[in-house]
Amino acid sequence: MPVLLKIDSSVDGAPSRTRRLTAGLAESWRSRGHDYTVVTRDLHRDPPPVMVASAQHWPERLRDGAQLDPALEAAQSSAIAELLAADAVVIGVPMYNYAMPATLKAWIDLVHVPGVTAPFDVESRPLAGRPAVLVAARGGTDDDGGFAHALGSLELTIGSGLGMHVRTITTSRTLADRVPALGEQLAEDELETALAQARALGATL
Ligand SMILES: Cc1cc2nc3c(=O)[nH]c(=O)nc-3n(C[C@H](O)[C@H](O)[C@H](O)COP(=O)(O)O)c2cc1C
Repeated sequence: MPVLLKIDSSVDGAPSRTRRLTAGLAESWRSRGHDYTVVTRDLHRDPPPVMVASAQHWPERLRDGAQLDPALEAAQSSAIAELLAADAVVIGVPMYNYAMPATLKAWIDLVHVPGVTAPFDVESRPLAGRPAVLVAARGGTDDDGGFAHALGSLELTIGSGLGMHVRTITTSRTLADRVPALGEQLAEDELETALAQARALGATL
């Protein structure tokens, strides 16, 4: 039973471009057959705990005796188990102040654990080679190269760290309805292209 983990993090509901794109990819994944399932994780509606102790970054054997709050440990185990159960992952990445949303960073801090999901003292990379699609949106144009900044640490943690095969889809100018100089038609065209890319990946990942 192939499982797609769909992760959303936009603070917006219906108008969210990243939610539309992750949904398009998921719809296309589901249409491959009744056994193709989608697990949805909404980090905005159900925010993961923010990291408060460095022990969270390590497995117990590397914590130098530091204790991790049991509730936090349970949240971490559950987030890692959910990720390990997925054959493919799509992550919505709305750009907030040139960065990923804080909830998505908190999720990364839960699941990127050297020695467990990433290499450290052992070559542990249980997710190596599995596909991950980053779907990013921003309000302005990308003339300043902001996508590279907002997506950079995700590409490193998920790609180099977890070893997943990362692809990215981007759509910009999403605030064109409020700032006409951005070009409403250009924004629409970009979104359509991104949707087609998302659907194509959902059908082939
Ligand atoms: C708090 C906040 C910060 C934002 N910062 C940026 C930014 O730095 N650059 C940019 O181009 N757009 C920025 N935007 C616009 C969003 O990137 C844009 O609305 C995008 O479409 C959000 O993704 P979504 O449509 O999936 O919600 C910001 C929006 C919010 C709410």
